Formats: sequence, C-alpha cells, structure tokens
Amino acid sequence: MKNSALTFREFKNQRKKLTMLTAYDYSMAKIIDECGINGILIGDSLGMVIKGEQDTLSVTVDEIIYHTKAVKKGAKNALIVSDMPFLSYHVSAEQAVKNAGRMIKEGGAHAVKLEGGAHVIEQIRAIVNAQIPVMGHLGLTPQSVNAFGGFKIQGKSEETARKLIEDAKLIEDAGAFALVLECVPKKVAELITQVVSIPTIGIGAGENCDGQILVYQDMLGMFNDFVPKFVKQYANVGTVMKEAIKGYISEVQDGSFPEDKHSFKIDESELEKLY
Ligand code: KIV
Repeated sequence: MKNSALTFREFKNQRKKLTMLTAYDYSMAKIIDECGINGILIGDSLGMVIKGEQDTLSVTVDEIIYHTKAVKKGAKNALIVSDMPFLSYHVSAEQAVKNAGRMIKEGGAHAVKLEGGAHVIEQIRAIVNAQIPVMGHLGLTPQSVNAFGGFKIQGKSEETARKLIEDAKLIEDAGAFALVLECVPKKVAELITQVVSIPTIGIGAGENCDGQILVYQDMLGMFNDFVPKFVKQYANVGTVMKEAIKGYISEVQDGSFPEDKHSFKIDESELEKLY
C-alpha cells in the first residue's frame, strides 16, 4: 500500500496505529519499506547516529537532502518525511518554504517535519500553503537542547502540559497533517491525541498516541552510546554484526577466506603465456 499524508489521517479516523522508523540510506530504507512501514523519517538524528555528534544541531539542509535521495530510492511505499534541521526554518517563513521546497524538489521527500509550537506557526502555515505536507514535532524537541538545558522530558507541570496542548492545537490549525510527540508524559500525550484531529506519532509518549516512531539504530541495538528509557531493543544487531566482522577478520588472518568459490578463473592456455 502506498502511503500519503492522507493515509495518515485515514488511519487516525479508522483507529489504526501508524508505524514510522528513521532511515538514512538506500539499503536500510529498502529493508524497512519491505516490512510494510507507513512512514520513513530522514531525521536530523543523523547528526548523532551517522555523524557521531553529541546533538543534532550541526546537521545541514544539504545533508538531509543527500540522505533523503538515498532513502527515496529504497522505499517504494512509505511516506518519506525529511526533517528540517536547526536554523533551516527559524529565520523567516520565506526561508522555511525555500528549504522545505528543496527537500521535495531535490531530495524527493513527500513531506517535511519541523520542531516547535507557537513560534513556528507562521512557517508551518507558509509551507502548507506551498502545498507541502508538514509534520509538527512537540515535547523534547532536540534542536532546543541548549534552551531546555539538556535532553529533558517536557510537559510535566500543569503549565507546560497546557502549553503543549495549546501548541498542538495551533499546529493542527496551521494545516499540519501529523504531529510527533517526543518524551512527554503519556497522559499528556493521550490528552493531545484526543483534542487534535491529526494523528500523533509518539516517541517516549506512551501507547495512546495514534502511531509510534523510533530511530532504527536504537530499536535494532546498533547504537549503545546512550539507550533512552523509551527504546525497546527488538534485536541486538550490533552484537550480530560484531560476531560477523570478527569472523571475517579471523578468516582473512588464517587464510580460510576467500575460498576458491569466491575467486575468478583464467583459462590455462592464457595463463601459460604469462610464464
Ligand atoms: O530526528 C529524528 O530522528 C526525530 C525522531 C526521533 C522523531 O526527530
């Protein structure tokens, strides 16, 4: 089934759960897409899991486009959402539309995601007016790490929870088709899910969101620098990879790889001429 922004709304109306994962390259996007995922996010989490940085702030529009192109080739049915990196939409609505447009025209994305509430509503409205579907993102928005004073759960007091609810309504009103809720108490995420008509996609926001998203390296056990509480490791692929790589190293060292079947042949008559 081909997924679109419309599919996301239909899933919410039919009370069917949406599934999303991140991907950053062709091979992984192909595997994820073949499993029947609804959406793939080229997240600015690539700053941490691909570039090895401490946060997402260094990620550029060009990097997101580069990875979006690769993902797009691998994914046939998933909705492709490109993350708008830090400072690619904060300056003005015009800057936001230009950069969102690049994600679509150059990267091949179907939609963009951007972080924040009231302060980016003008940008969301402008991008939607340019006919580009927008996914909002509230809660622990990693681009605000310095303003938050660290990666901290958001919406734990009445005041901050109320602000999240108000922001969610503003994002819906500005025309976004979906909303990521990251690291907010599950009861607050549940409330937001009830008061907005667009689907909520949770990450560390409990089971009552309309869908879930995870970073694939986290859920496959490939990124162990820090494993957040909300991550479930469905496999320990990191260990499997290490076993395979150690096997390769030792077989090369002891001469058991490559075998004859991994090698190419030359006719004896041609070979004789070399001597
Ligand atoms: O950048 C990202 O991968 C994200 C998800 C964690 C929602 O924003």
